[in-house]
Amino acid sequence: MHNFTFANPVKILFGRDVIGKLAAEAAGSGKKALLVYGGGSIKKNGVYAALTAALAANGVEITEHAGVKPNPVLSHALEGIKKARAAGCDMIIAAGGGSVIDESKTIAAGVKYDGDVWDFFCGKAQPRAALPLFTVLTIPATGSEMNSGCVITNELTRQKYSAGGVVLFPKASALDPETTLTLPRPQIGYGAVDSIAHIIEGYFTTTDRDAAVTDELVHGLARSIISSTDRILADQADYNARASMMWSATLALNGLPTCGYAGTHFINHAIEHALSAIYDIPHGAGLAIVMPAWFRHHLEKDGPARLAQFGKAVFGTPTAEETIKAFETFFKKAGAPVRLAEAGIPAEDIPRIAENAMSLIRLWGMKHEQPEIEKILRNAV
Ligand code: NZQ
Ligand code: ZN
Repeated sequence: MHNFTFANPVKILFGRDVIGKLAAEAAGSGKKALLVYGGGSIKKNGVYAALTAALAANGVEITEHAGVKPNPVLSHALEGIKKARAAGCDMIIAAGGGSVIDESKTIAAGVKYDGDVWDFFCGKAQPRAALPLFTVLTIPATGSEMNSGCVITNELTRQKYSAGGVVLFPKASALDPETTLTLPRPQIGYGAVDSIAHIIEGYFTTTDRDAAVTDELVHGLARSIISSTDRILADQADYNARASMMWSATLALNGLPTCGYAGTHFINHAIEHALSAIYDIPHGAGLAIVMPAWFRHHLEKDGPARLAQFGKAVFGTPTAEETIKAFETFFKKAGAPVRLAEAGIPAEDIPRIAENAMSLIRLWGMKHEQPEIEKILRNAV
């Protein structure tokens, strides 16, 4: 088991009716908030009404920054930075999914930075200061509500890159499972695929394979994500399944499920970011295409041990091959595509996708070359 440092400062407010508590937390940090949200789902499901009423009751004034799109783009984040500066905001409140939270983190750091905020994403600078951020999560998927990373697409260059730093951890996040009751069915599935992806990256790329506590944490989270998703798909009003799914997805990328692992990397994510950068497909859909393809490559290169262990603990499958099939079956059941063509992506585009992924692979310091990435992508044809 490898040495590690684990610190996660995010206060989690979990359960029914926690939005009011979040507003009270936020009021301790400032009086003028930039309220960031997406295409309007929060207005339909009551989150906007509950949050704005609670903020007003706590004496917090708001300036709105709406219209964050899924796979958020740099130009919209830049608008948010201008708005927050012009209104003299002293904090950011994000209400929505990973896209809204990631754009909010970008704005929070951008307001405090004199240079171009894209510097944080292409490795030219590290965020050293940020406005305090509070989040109301409405979709279990990315873990952004309890981590210090964010992902933005530069729509001019088609680069989907990430930034990170301790100043980007939210101060507090409200996780009310009832806010997820209005999720469209495809988003339920994409969120499940993404949260599975977050735990498999570390589990399958670690060079230290004797960290039983972390392995078991990963197995447990995977079983919880899969069984909760099954229950939600069968009965979308199942509160306890929604709650279990929400907390599982948060835990999946809050730093805990990699403690004790060594040399882990996010290869499936690097390839997926090229897909969503070029074709603007949902992150979870792209991952459902990449993961089975990467698993076949992993089996060939690193042997069956990890796939067999994971399969036995999570799916009850007897072999590595059966484990890959079980992943695919789960992704399909969740409504996600598992081949490039199912997302309308032609096989002829593979070199272009691999080239785009390579720029991120280099930026993240990973040791892969373009022919290997093309080979992985050909497994997804
Ligand atoms: O925009 P609105 O109207 O809010 O609708 C959203 C959006 O259309 C909708 N939605 C969210 N909650 C809802 C709802 N609709 C009805 N009821 C609700 N309760 O769902 C759609 C997708 O939302 P989005 O925020 O894009 O989804 P997700 O949370 O999956 O975020 C994806 C983004 O996060 C990045 C992805 O790459 C992608 O850009 N990631 C961020 C990470 C991080 N910061 O740690 C890690 C991940 O690996 C990932 O890369
Ligand atoms: Zn992800």
